[in-house]
Amino acid sequence: MKVPNHIAIILDGNGRWAKAKGMPRGYGHIKGCANLETICDDIKDLGVKYLTVYAFSTENWKRSREEVEGLMKLFRSYLKKCMKSAEKNHMRVKIIGDPSAFAPDIQDKIRQLEEFSKDYDELYFQIALNYGSRDEITRGMRRMAQDAAEGKLIPAQITEETIEGYLDTAGVPDPDLLIRTSGELRISNFLLWQIAYAELIFTPVAWPDFDEEQLNACIDEFSMRDRRYGGVKA
Ligand code: IPE
Ligand code: IPE
Ligand code: MG
Repeated sequence: MKVPNHIAIILDGNGRWAKAKGMPRGYGHIKGCANLETICDDIKDLGVKYLTVYAFSTENWKRSREEVEGLMKLFRSYLKKCMKSAEKNHMRVKIIGDPSAFAPDIQDKIRQLEEFSKDYDELYFQIALNYGSRDEITRGMRRMAQDAAEGKLIPAQITEETIEGYLDTAGVPDPDLLIRTSGELRISNFLLWQIAYAELIFTPVAWPDFDEEQLNACIDEFSMRDRRYGGVKA
């Protein structure tokens, strides 16, 4: 079986999953968060080197105050627990997105987790929090323009690699496989630059029900795909 080097997942469907059980949306987020820990272990065991998950988008602030507050509470406890997972799985954790919108204590927890795990190298785990691909590109291009204005960069010499270097994912290889759970067939502003040649899998299964069996089925499907890049075998 061909295992992807980098898997990206849009964790979707927590709210609908909870509603179907007659429970509040927050219950779905709690279950979804617990599932993230399990899937992280499974992905490590499969020998995947990079995992990126979409946990909170720049657009998700538009949800009700109650839901956003519940999610912030969950991030607080998850970021703390994630230190243990990082230690257990020897995984380096990096948050992508703009952390400046979060409360100072959440920003501290992000820094602590990144600092604590920075030397682990068995799995590189990126969590997208207050992430939007257009926002990432805008922030990166602002820094790039500033560098050009200061003479550190010559516009005519800008390459695709230069642009990659200004993204939050700088230095991380592009995803080979993107999975979106819960049936929606869209990308919702996730890694637009980085998924140029990723294989896409959309599964109807809601995120809290996405287990090891589902993960293996996605990897099986990926390994049967004939990957091409410009018409030639990748
Ligand atoms: C994904 O589940 C988690 C977040 C975006 C925070 P949703 O909350 O989007 O669940 P649905 O799509 O409404 O069911
Ligand atoms: C995408 O899910 C963002 C995350 C999973 C964090 P949404 O549920 O917010 O996306 P839309 O609104 O259905 O496109
Ligand atoms: Mg959703």
